[in-house]
Amino acid sequence: MTENEEIKIDHLGDWKRTHDCGSLTVNDEGKESVLMGWVNSRRDLGNLIFIDLRDRDGITQIVFDPQVDGESHERAHALRNEWVIAVKGTVSPRLKGQENFSMPTGSIELKVTGLKILNRTETPPFQVDGAVDASETLRLKYRYLELRRPQVFSVFLKRHRISACIREFLNGKGFMEVETPFLTKSTPEGARDYLVPSRVNRGLFYALPQSPQLFKQLLMIGGFERYYQIVRCFRDEDLRADRQPEFTQVDLEMAFVNEDGVMEVFEEMMGKLFREIMDRAIPSPIKRMEFQEAMDRFGTDRPDMRFGMELIDLTDIALRSDFRVFKDVIEDGGVVKAITVKSGGAAFSRKNLDELSALAVEAGASGLAWIKVNEDGWQSSLKKFFKDEDKNGLNEKSGAGPGDLILIVAHKRRVANESLGMLRLEVARRMELIPVGAYEFVWITKFPLLEYDETEKRLQAVHHPFTAPVEEDIPLLDEQPEKVRARAYDLVLNGTEIGGGSIRIHVPAVQERMLSILGISPEQAQVKFGFLLEALKYGAPPHGGMALGFDRLVAIMAGVNSIREVIAFPKTTSATCLLTDAPSRVDETQLKELGLRTDS
Ligand code: AMO
Repeated sequence: MTENEEIKIDHLGDWKRTHDCGSLTVNDEGKESVLMGWVNSRRDLGNLIFIDLRDRDGITQIVFDPQVDGESHERAHALRNEWVIAVKGTVSPRLKGQENFSMPTGSIELKVTGLKILNRTETPPFQVDGAVDASETLRLKYRYLELRRPQVFSVFLKRHRISACIREFLNGKGFMEVETPFLTKSTPEGARDYLVPSRVNRGLFYALPQSPQLFKQLLMIGGFERYYQIVRCFRDEDLRADRQPEFTQVDLEMAFVNEDGVMEVFEEMMGKLFREIMDRAIPSPIKRMEFQEAMDRFGTDRPDMRFGMELIDLTDIALRSDFRVFKDVIEDGGVVKAITVKSGGAAFSRKNLDELSALAVEAGASGLAWIKVNEDGWQSSLKKFFKDEDKNGLNEKSGAGPGDLILIVAHKRRVANESLGMLRLEVARRMELIPVGAYEFVWITKFPLLEYDETEKRLQAVHHPFTAPVEEDIPLLDEQPEKVRARAYDLVLNGTEIGGGSIRIHVPAVQERMLSILGISPEQAQVKFGFLLEALKYGAPPHGGMALGFDRLVAIMAGVNSIREVIAFPKTTSATCLLTDAPSRVDETQLKELGLRTDS
């Protein structure tokens, strides 16, 4: 039969798969086996035809030999990559020298005695087997083809194992999985809502939940005590590698606990996950660091602890210099801070330093000063402004010796911290200082409760408005609200915030006061969260919880760079689905029913 002739598609009939394509070995020699899968690759030697048959579990070499089965061999000439076939055959050891010891089935092949062609394929837009050279647009449009790749499949298998392990752990700790509504009211997690118009109640809208926050609090008031849910959340926000418009949380809430109660559950869960999925022990307890310390030492509230290069405060020495820029900043209440790049002197050319300087400015700094410490002293525009003893003092405080580079920012504390925190990461990336295969957890605690929003000209909750203030800071609420710390905690892994939570306000008067500090009038509060304020009046237990960003955790555990790679059908950075073409226009009649009109 030639390629162009109509190929008969066979029915599966009573054929039953006996093995998957990843399991046959020499121990199965002589067994009759039925395999089903996709043609991964073929070598047609005329006389013998070899096919690598692939299913989700692996690849097995199958051989069509006219001496064994003439009809199958004849039909096998037509097979092409990604055709779907079923084969019957006998497990045989490969000839000496033909083995492939890098794959589990590499010592055997299946000598085919029967073939069914279950389906053909159009020429795929990219090779399933082979290098990932197609554009991301094409790969997302044909996502199902990409999912066939063994490396991609293995990520989803891992995702599944992680969620199964989490469920097993939480079930064992007395947590109950409860589903909460998707068609609901806005939950203030800081992003825009996705809205769903109501047909039955024209002109009214549901909001898709940014998280189940309010419902899980209601479940605590409802006496459930330990709730969890592996749940989708929806946020209309600017997307990047670790943000998707719909993403998954491992969401959890507990009654009658303080911070330690919640954190211990997560620590134990992480311990089990890393032990069972990664075969690794993680330190217990996980380090804890208060927010301000993280900002001062690492310039971020999600420090990557896999390497050092901590921020150093040089304010006292800088004040003794004759450098006007530093002195002005300090007299204005600012600081002079630095990071020391070991062996950075040779690694960073003038051009590289200009690039770093541009990045620092982008992050808010006024500029970047630098010192290359050489055997014979400083190479730096700051050289003439410092006395020799202060130069030595600065070297010493920075831990810098010959060959090292010191990068300095003078600004308000927050800007100096944040710009150096960003440079710390940039330098580590450029110098490849981040050890591969390291996993460093840290809890960041006692975040500020409130921050001033310059655009809205009012205070905003840093976490969300239901987070309790640290008890001893409550007296500061009226006079110095920005100094009040929250009973909030984030879990950070390798510089990524993988989860966050808090102890909640459970006393109605405190909750009302909090909303009023946030500039939410009692009337607005009633409209937005009246049901929660009402519920708090009926015996709310002390409670707290946390949500893990499940996609982010899986991405780190699977060693991939973007959460798009751990979501089966992800969206692009402009929140579109290239596979289904969502979002899309809808019929005029649908709009009419909803009482909506579009202006485009
Ligand atoms: P939070 O808003 O901090 O807390 O979210 C919890 C975790 O969810 C992950 N995350 C995201 N992952 C992917 N794409 C996104 N767009 C995205 N946004 C957040 C992060 C984050 O740490 N209700 C509270 C939890 C609580 O207080 O119990 C909440 O949702 O890893």
